[in-house]
Amino acid sequence: MVPEANAKISVLDRGFLYGDGVYEAVRVYEGKIFRVEQHWKRLDHSLKGIGLRIPWSHQDLTRACVATLKANRLKEAMIRVTISRGAGELGYDPGTCRHPTFTVIALPIRTDLQERWRQGVKVSIVKIRRNSTRSLSPAIKHTNALNGILAKIESLKVRAFEGVFLNLDGYVAEGTISNIFIVKNGTVKTPALDCGILDGVTRHAVLEVARGSGRKILETYLKIQDVLKADEIFLTSTTMEVMPVVKVDRTVIGGGRPGPVTRSLHIAFRSLLFKELKLHG
Ligand code: PDD
Repeated sequence: MVPEANAKISVLDRGFLYGDGVYEAVRVYEGKIFRVEQHWKRLDHSLKGIGLRIPWSHQDLTRACVATLKANRLKEAMIRVTISRGAGELGYDPGTCRHPTFTVIALPIRTDLQERWRQGVKVSIVKIRRNSTRSLSPAIKHTNALNGILAKIESLKVRAFEGVFLNLDGYVAEGTISNIFIVKNGTVKTPALDCGILDGVTRHAVLEVARGSGRKILETYLKIQDVLKADEIFLTSTTMEVMPVVKVDRTVIGGGRPGPVTRSLHIAFRSLLFKELKLHG
């Protein structure tokens, strides 16, 4: 355990040189990690996707997270677990990497969430497309983030909170760090996994609570027009939970106010996590 200023990684680390690594971002509520096992399962999937084996068990990963939380005296936090292929000789051949690099960072939660949940945010549909599932699959949570960073830069130019990707076929895929949902005539719709998206832990939980409340749900193919004509739109992610969207580029959604279905799904998501983690609030 070292203070950030003393943390060192080799200049030959392939995470630094090539973005050759994977990561998870988990959310901690009252000192407990939400759906930790789902995050480690997705990490396993990502590791398999880049052909990297690690010597740490799920328990080791959780222990490292808890220790980092304690060292930072945090109870409400976001933890980022990053694993790179480690240091080796220059060049793409991973054969000379002996030890993966494993880092854990615990950070406080961003302070603007309450206000954004209340007011809703603007998103922008970016020109750059999501990587194809046949090149670098978006289902792998890897540290090779330029696709998302270029989209983020584009969306910041129009002062959007999040950029939304289309896939190469022109269907809506996901945000740069979030999944997207729309509500139309009471039905909750979200891009299917084969649109080339990350299988979000929050997406999963929201689909669960939506199903539980008897709503009609479709994991489907959405076009730009479906998004622009939606009654409600929201994003999901570990840090954002359920984030209402009230504007898509120049189009105002739902009169510019967060919608009732979005709100009720956020409330249901919160009660699910309070129940699962046995929180006191
Ligand atoms: N981002 N899609 C992408 C591309 C993401 O990077 C993320 C998560 C999600 C939502 O997944 P989840 O609900 O499991 O957080 C979807 C995390 C928060 C990040 O990059 O920090």
